[in-house]
Amino acid sequence: MARIEVCRVDELRPGEARRVEIGDGIALFNVDGAFYATQDLCTHGQSSLAEGWLEGDTVECAWHMAKFCVKTGRALCLPATQPLRTFSVSVVGDTIVVEADG
Ligand code: FES
Repeated sequence: MARIEVCRVDELRPGEARRVEIGDGIALFNVDGAFYATQDLCTHGQSSLAEGWLEGDTVECAWHMAKFCVKTGRALCLPATQPLRTFSVSVVGDTIVVEADG
């Protein structure tokens, strides 16, 4: 696992998400000031979850509206049944750092 600096804290506001080009793509979420990271691709298809809708700690896929908990990766409703992979996130100074394969 590598620790990868992805962006500054002030570049991702509460309720926002962004895709980070690490490996197959990671979605980074700001949930009320806390940061979480999951795989970006939905487990139901090839949709980017960073382009979905984040409400609280739940992201809804833009394609077929599966929902996932961004804290745990758990699939919360059909059509998704498989969880998302999650990644550890920390804040160092004003920088968001993700632990990922690189
Ligand atoms: S691709 Fe995400 S719900 Fe189908």
